[in-house]
Amino acid sequence: MTDKENLKLKLAYVPGLRGVVLSEIKNKTNFEIVGEDKDAFYIEYMDNFEEVKILKTVSRAYLVDRSANYNPFYISNHKSILSDLIKIVKSHNEANSFKSFKINCAGSDSKEILEIKEYIRHEFAVGEKDEADLKIYIAKKDEAWEVGIQITSRPLSLREYKVRNMSGAMDPTIAYSLNYLCELEKYETYLNVFSGSATLMIEAGLNYDNLEKIIGFDNNKEHLSLSVQNIKKAGLIKKANVKEFDVKDQPDLGSFDVITSDLPFGMSISKGEDLESLYKTFIEYCEKHLNEGGRLGVYTSQFKIFESLISRSNFKLEKEVKIDLITNENEYLPVKIMVFGLGNLK
Ligand SMILES: C[S@@+](CC[C@H](N)C(=O)[O-])C[C@H]1O[C@@H](n2cnc3c(N)ncnc32)[C@H](O)[C@@H]1O
Repeated sequence: MTDKENLKLKLAYVPGLRGVVLSEIKNKTNFEIVGEDKDAFYIEYMDNFEEVKILKTVSRAYLVDRSANYNPFYISNHKSILSDLIKIVKSHNEANSFKSFKINCAGSDSKEILEIKEYIRHEFAVGEKDEADLKIYIAKKDEAWEVGIQITSRPLSLREYKVRNMSGAMDPTIAYSLNYLCELEKYETYLNVFSGSATLMIEAGLNYDNLEKIIGFDNNKEHLSLSVQNIKKAGLIKKANVKEFDVKDQPDLGSFDVITSDLPFGMSISKGEDLESLYKTFIEYCEKHLNEGGRLGVYTSQFKIFESLISRSNFKLEKEVKIDLITNENEYLPVKIMVFGLGNLK
């Protein structure tokens, strides 16, 4: 059996969120960070995986083992290294959680990897699939090789409350981070403009009991209907409300301590709609409806347009986080979370 002394847990996050992830680990856990990789922290192995699942900024967690020996050839001759790791992960999940597997490794058609795949297929009665439950990788890291198994069948970022995925919906770890950067613990009322499937509202409602009023609006009926289903599933129906409005009609819903928005861009704006004029209307709306001392948190890939417009307003930039979003086409899309303050901040 694998010597657990050598095992680590690897916590991977969206590129750019390092600072927020570090704060969350420090504030919520007593994990000691024992190493770092590109967009991931390593902590010592612990038997209770539930403790890792409380982290809302971590996208994926892996059980990893590392050695200078663990190249594919060595693993194919010492398959118990892999099977021991898989057994640990399986023991932390319900039976039948893993029906398919995928191995990520350079040279995945080599004789050694084909042999390893055949072994896993046979030993664990799982089929190979691209969108697999059991995710395995073998990767060269500096002078050593790392073998890793994702500890859950779905990424941690895929939240239970999502009834289905909406194209253009926000990654929940980014939504959590935007709310965190707005320092929601200091406030009571929260408005989400362009609420879509309600990711921001739900992440706020689930993580900040102090919020008394959470309201969102969107002009798309389908998005509104999905957001109501998500809110229900999250158990927030009494706390969070969505309404059908177009920001251009300047709906009067009162004033709020915090306004957040995953701004429309690309697919989520109507054909022929002028982004600049939409963003200008949004900023005017926020100036009217944000309380003095309140915060405005926005997220967009069109940050150049937004920055130029907001520089002419009363909002002062307080924090920003640049993120490299990986698109469905596996390309990097630069996006920004920006937090602005109005007047003297709390
Ligand atoms: C980027 S999406 C928001 C996604 C959301 N954060 C989520 O996680 O599902 C932008 C939303 O803005 C809405 N929208 C676009 N133009 C609008 C307008 N003029 N007034 C209100 N909502 C609008 C779209 O329907 C879409 O749901």
